[in-house]
Amino acid sequence: MMNNLSTRQKALIDACKKFHTTCDVGCDHGYIGVSLLKNKKTNFLIATDISAPSVHKTEVLLKQHNLQNYASIRVGDGLETVKSSENVEQIIIAGMGGKEIVHILSEYKSLKKTKHFVFQPMNELQVFRKYLSDNNIKIQKDIVIFDKKFYHIITAKPQENSSLSPFRQKWGAKTKDRNKDYFLWLAEKEKKLTKILNNLPKNNEKEKEILKCLNDIKRIKATKGAKKC
Ligand SMILES: C[S@@+](CC[C@H](N)C(=O)[O-])C[C@H]1O[C@@H](n2cnc3c(N)ncnc32)[C@H](O)[C@@H]1O
Repeated sequence: MMNNLSTRQKALIDACKKFHTTCDVGCDHGYIGVSLLKNKKTNFLIATDISAPSVHKTEVLLKQHNLQNYASIRVGDGLETVKSSENVEQIIIAGMGGKEIVHILSEYKSLKKTKHFVFQPMNELQVFRKYLSDNNIKIQKDIVIFDKKFYHIITAKPQENSSLSPFRQKWGAKTKDRNKDYFLWLAEKEKKLTKILNNLPKNNEKEKEILKCLNDIKRIKATKGAKKC
């Protein structure tokens, strides 16, 4: 493992499996892809980013670690530079908005050939999970980690009949994946929603929606197996 990785980056690397070819989309500095090569979680890395200066940072890091012969770096939108014949088994897309990741996946022709995905959407989690649900991509794990703020890390793979209920699309994690950070995230959300509710003018149309969310949170906290925080 490289030194000085953040808790978030380490969690992303842990979430990756061992494969021959991994593509890191939005590679930026290259820490994640280079760590995967160093950890031998991938034999070959395709590192791609829409920004040429970001790809250059990855190129420099690969050279520093003498790994340039085990990687191909590319500038492009999402996975547009990746050919189906390259047999990418694992794809990691982290640090982008949920809708941006949906855009990238919906443009990719070899989605169903991918064996393992690691996603870390920064926002729009509900929209993102709905896309996976509607496109037969089954969520394997959906966890929250705290690294100065809360992040959601989702691993998934293509699988028929993998639709998620609207409740799970909104709240993520199965009972068994609800870790300590998930409940801390939930408690923060509850606090924010309660504050908004208390400051709403009477009969505001948002009231019903917020009360429904607060009720969902209560339901999750009461679920059998829920950990106390
Ligand atoms: C916040 S950085 C995240 C870097 C790294 N993935 C991580 O999680 O530490 C987001 C990166 O995604 C890149 N990016 C944004 N939209 C993209 C797209 N459609 N295709 C490829 N790269 C994109 C940006 O240029 C930037 O380098």
